[in-house]
Amino acid sequence: MNKQEIHDLRRLMDYEGSRNGPPIGFPKFPDLPAGRYNDVRFQELEKQHVWRKSWLLAGHIDEIPEPGCYKLWETSGQPVVIIHSRSGAINAFYNTCSHRGAPVVQEASGKRARLSCKYHGWTYDDEGKLVSVRDPRDFVDLDFSCRSLRSVRCERFGNLIFVNFDADAPALKEWLGSIAGEWDEFRFDQVRLVDHYVWDLNSNWKIAMEANMEVYHVKSIHPATVDLLLDSDKNVNTIYPYGHGRMVAPSREMVGQAKPYLSGTPEIDIPTVGEIARTCTQSYGMFPNWVSPLGSYGFPVLLFWPNGLDKCKLEVWWFGADWGSGKKSPNWDGYIAAFNEVLKEDTEFGKWIQKSVESYGFKGVPLSYQEMRIYYWHQTADRMIGSENIPPELRVEPVIGEEWVYPNEPRLNLVKMAAE
Ligand code: FES
Ligand SMILES: [Fe+2]
Repeated sequence: MNKQEIHDLRRLMDYEGSRNGPPIGFPKFPDLPAGRYNDVRFQELEKQHVWRKSWLLAGHIDEIPEPGCYKLWETSGQPVVIIHSRSGAINAFYNTCSHRGAPVVQEASGKRARLSCKYHGWTYDDEGKLVSVRDPRDFVDLDFSCRSLRSVRCERFGNLIFVNFDADAPALKEWLGSIAGEWDEFRFDQVRLVDHYVWDLNSNWKIAMEANMEVYHVKSIHPATVDLLLDSDKNVNTIYPYGHGRMVAPSREMVGQAKPYLSGTPEIDIPTVGEIARTCTQSYGMFPNWVSPLGSYGFPVLLFWPNGLDKCKLEVWWFGADWGSGKKSPNWDGYIAAFNEVLKEDTEFGKWIQKSVESYGFKGVPLSYQEMRIYYWHQTADRMIGSENIPPELRVEPVIGEEWVYPNEPRLNLVKMAAE
């Protein structure tokens, strides 16, 4: 972040801390329809549009560090194999043999020069090309060139591997937009894979994710943890093209006193990380399912995945400053454990809210200005699905205009007007 951006953010934090209502001209949100959480029709629309057309985090290069290494990736519900090819590219394919659909990979990960189907032995190279079949004399005019493994779009941002199932989706760099530049200082090209785990949760996936898209809950849910660390009244939400969002909230003066809950930090730090991440919580919500509070030692990326209508998976990736040829700091364990305590607080009400959204009494969700990133997510989802494809009772009205989307920032003018 450059000096001007930091300066503007500081002014916006003061603005948020002192305002008496939402900014002038900011839209009032209609209630989110209940069916967006409990109707299978909306779940299916998400599957066909949101999950299919978005860039999804699928892994880290440390999982497949050398040519020939591969991993199975089924978290999105699609059977995908991701391969580090001899050319150096990371390729993704449906794990679907072009003969009769058997898998070319059954184990979670491994290393092989070629992928061979165990059903009848068709074999593919690391670019997905069919290179041999058993008993070729029994096929008439089998054109190998049309029988490659079906590829899936796969791009890297630094050491992170992303997948997209839509041939027409924008390139990953465009999808990330200016956020890619904001992330330069976090050196995604150097971060190492520290940890990876998955929690099963008993709620619709958006209920779980939305607990991480606002700080309105901080004083109630986190009185002994997050509330001691960050000044949520001064939080600044920013929304970006393609449905992404960012929150920046300053640390409290008494952060020193709250430190015991963060006992022991990993020793190695990413030196390029700037002032905002070092003195504030700087967290990103990347459409559709990513939440990442970035920090100078490294950071978690939380991914929320549907698991039916009433359950979900919370997948947590931890990426850390490069420890070179040495060892990963043992302090990471305590650091992650402390974070998980906060995460447990965030997931605490999921199963209760799920009961509510399945009840006759659940009609919809009123959102405040502070919860704008949630509304913007829904508005973006509808744009991606196509409003005309959504039953009227499940739609949200796109009330947030472009003027509120980065780089536009009407609140800076309000700050200026107040100063004059
Ligand atoms: S299904 Fe793969 S070789 Fe037959
Ligand atoms: Fe929280």
